[in-house]
Amino acid sequence: MELIILKTNNELWLMREANRIIAVILTDIKAKIKAGVSTYELDQWAEEKILSLNARPGFKGYKGYPATLCTSINNEVVHGIPSKKRKLKNGDIIGIDVGCIYKDFYGDGAYTYPVGDVSEAAIDLMNTCKKSLLEGISQAKKGNRVSDISNSIDKCVRSKGYEIIRDLTGHGIGRELHEEPQILNYNSGEKGPKLRPNMTLSIEPMISNGSFEIKTLDDNWTVVTVDGSLSAHYEHTIAITESGPEILTRL
Ligand code: MF3
Ligand code: CO
Repeated sequence: MELIILKTNNELWLMREANRIIAVILTDIKAKIKAGVSTYELDQWAEEKILSLNARPGFKGYKGYPATLCTSINNEVVHGIPSKKRKLKNGDIIGIDVGCIYKDFYGDGAYTYPVGDVSEAAIDLMNTCKKSLLEGISQAKKGNRVSDISNSIDKCVRSKGYEIIRDLTGHGIGRELHEEPQILNYNSGEKGPKLRPNMTLSIEPMISNGSFEIKTLDDNWTVVTVDGSLSAHYEHTIAITESGPEILTRL
């Protein structure tokens, strides 16, 4: 039994503001991403910026997570913990995932960025992941089902020969970071719940150019590909409206 919380129109305005803050972070951090910068510096900058926009970090303290950002480099899929010791290198790709709370509502979004000159392989992986997210979002309309989102992400990623990380999913979002429904990034063959106006969803495909197998490192957070293959992750929070999907985290 799915219990998907529909937001009131007033709550939707708060969700818009929370997620606009996420879009600001993901846009402005781009200029900070260069070789030699530590993931700790990025985290400090993001925390200050969120506070200056009258919100607070959404991940810090969530199940004990210690930072504002998740910074996941190369074979790290998600939940990489920022560190002074971890400096970006030319050719890396880095996934930045950021959450905030604005007037009791969560914003959540992620983007993968190149550091300096990256390989064609990395660029294609990032572009495919971003494209699959947009194709998933295009299915996020009234009358469709959650599985229509999943299936179109699946189709886009597989058509390029990449694998989808299956153990991690997108989610509903609102007063909680993770609400129902769960949004798979692959076609499970099952029909999901119907999409209705005023649902708010975080859609977040994670893909790799090797195997989908993942493991969690000893820090209990960092999720990596077991085979060391490159991974990309993009996430938008959207609202279902009468006239279709509205991307609340649009950069
Ligand atoms: N975007 C991720 C998610 O929705 C980030 C969660 S990191 C955590 O699951 F630290 F908050 F768990
Ligand atoms: Co999320």
